[in-house]
Amino acid sequence: MAVLDAEELEGREHNAGAAPVGRLAGRVALISGGAGGVGEAASRLFAAEGASVVIVDRQAEAGEALATELRAGGAQAVFACADVSLACEVEAAVQSGLDAFGFIDVLFNHAGTIIIKPFLDTTEADWDTLMAVNVKSMFLMTKAVLPSMLARGKGSVVCTSSISAVAATPMEVLYGATKGAVHQFVRGIATEYRDRGIRCNAVCPGFIRTPHGLREVAELQALGVDTSEAAIAAQQGRMCEPEEVARAALFLASDEASFVNGTHLFVDNAFTAI
Ligand SMILES: NC(=O)c1ccc[n+]([C@@H]2O[C@H](COP(=O)([O-])OP(=O)(O)OC[C@H]3O[C@@H](n4cnc5c(N)ncnc54)[C@H](O)[C@@H]3O)[C@@H](O)[C@H]2O)c1
Repeated sequence: MAVLDAEELEGREHNAGAAPVGRLAGRVALISGGAGGVGEAASRLFAAEGASVVIVDRQAEAGEALATELRAGGAQAVFACADVSLACEVEAAVQSGLDAFGFIDVLFNHAGTIIIKPFLDTTEADWDTLMAVNVKSMFLMTKAVLPSMLARGKGSVVCTSSISAVAATPMEVLYGATKGAVHQFVRGIATEYRDRGIRCNAVCPGFIRTPHGLREVAELQALGVDTSEAAIAAQQGRMCEPEEVARAALFLASDEASFVNGTHLFVDNAFTAI
């Protein structure tokens, strides 16, 4: 009988249906905003780390394409189209994840957006939109997923906050207010559910090279806020890559962070330390 080399042996073990491998092996992760930017990076990374992923996004085409691609690569993935600021759509999306995989024990509350304007030009509708997409979405998603986590006695919720929760930028008063709310939402969930096996933490990125981050930089610059390459270099060295935030979220989602609860993990290369 031919002796298998290490590579062949590893492939054989995979095919033999051995215990699933990866830092999220056996887990089911729902990623809101999972079809673009950091959410897309997280959908890919979490799937590569063994999770079954439920991608939730309002971009139907991109979401379906990503789920199809991940399945073609051997992962378990479904897509649910939803506007995360609407209760009925969130509930339907979570239900489709539960129908597909039976439970959800990782929730990455990532979807969010930004409105950049001088404060006096902002409207009540702007306030309502940002609060709904950035904050109410976390309330709706977490309420919909938590019962499944509690039933298993274990779950990790990761919410995307921002440096803007603690470091203000002109033209972003409303955005900063939403991220301040996310900061405290995380602490509240962690405190209330710690004793029932639930962890809830935030990732707080600086400027990231995503559609959101690139638009933010351009719009701030147009309004006279210095977000030139030199200014970003002084604040955080360079633009953050989406995968760098996804890896921080992976840590918080995984058992490696088993005693990390109610924290704000800044992914900003010392932006807020200076
Ligand atoms: N990019 C940055 O510089 C930066 C910095 C700090 C924090 N953040 C936070 O990251 C999150 C988004 O960032 P990104 O950079 O990945 O953005 P992105 O714009 O590249 O991707 C956001 C994804 O969320 C989806 N989405 C947005 N609103 C939605 C809604 N109402 N319902 C469903 N899906 C929705 C979009 O379709 C998109 O796929 C936000 O919470 C934002 O506050 C971004």
